[in-house]
Amino acid sequence: MNNISIITFSPTGQSKACVLSVARATKKPYTERDVTQPLMRSQPLYCEDSLILLGFPVYGGRVPTLFSAYLKDHLTCKNCKAVAVATYGNRAYDDALVEIEDLLMEKGVPLVGCAAMVCQHSYTDKVGEHRPDILDFQLLDQLAVSLEHADDAVHPAGNRPYKKSMVLATPSYMPVLTESLCNQCMQCADVCPTGALQAKDSNLCIHCCACIKVCTHKALRMEDPRFFGTVQNLETFCRERQNSELFLA
Ligand SMILES: Cc1cc2nc3c(=O)[nH]c(=O)nc-3n(C[C@H](O)[C@H](O)[C@H](O)COP(=O)(O)O)c2cc1C
Repeated sequence: MNNISIITFSPTGQSKACVLSVARATKKPYTERDVTQPLMRSQPLYCEDSLILLGFPVYGGRVPTLFSAYLKDHLTCKNCKAVAVATYGNRAYDDALVEIEDLLMEKGVPLVGCAAMVCQHSYTDKVGEHRPDILDFQLLDQLAVSLEHADDAVHPAGNRPYKKSMVLATPSYMPVLTESLCNQCMQCADVCPTGALQAKDSNLCIHCCACIKVCTHKALRMEDPRFFGTVQNLETFCRERQNSELFLA
């Protein structure tokens, strides 16, 4: 299969970087569909005779709902196989890989390889610090090499039934803007995967932190104590190095 179709959902860009590194290492041409933004998630996608490379983050041990809904509702495949690269912030990937395996199976697409890659945690750069590193990229190169002959289905680690989906906190919260620091460049609104910032609607916010990371003036920050509680737990319990993993046939 020489057609490579990349599909990514990647609010802070790490999943996309990992999957692009696999695609480039194959030295084959590829097409890219980034469905992080709402507009792109409204467009159908048809893939035929393709190797589909999926890149997405783990959210609460699962595939982000916006991404799984997009794949379920908008992706149609004929004679395809898939490889999944799930990135996670050094806590755990739990059931995200088996969830994507099942979702693809429902579409008749076998999962012929996958990776659980450790990256920096979106909430704090002290967890998953300096990841992905050289060892992680070597693993991604190994995945790229294996794609040449990837025909058999793989069965990644994870449990069924899956871990319960992350329930966003109620009342909801979103990043708070310090207006004196803001130069109105609007990059924060541009990267928001749900339009929450534009609409100033905290119910839309998925806490991906893309807006916080893109702001060079540090004008946005989470101020909710629940967020700080999560960060504190991550920094206390999740700093020990986890190894990225490959699942190959
Ligand atoms: C809402 C949310 C939930 C997350 N849940 C997990 C998790 O369950 N386990 C984990 O190790 N990392 C978790 N992370 C960290 C991300 O999976 C990680 O930082 C990922 O590489 C971000 O990908 P991106 O740069 O493509 O957005 C979570 C991040 C966010 C924003």
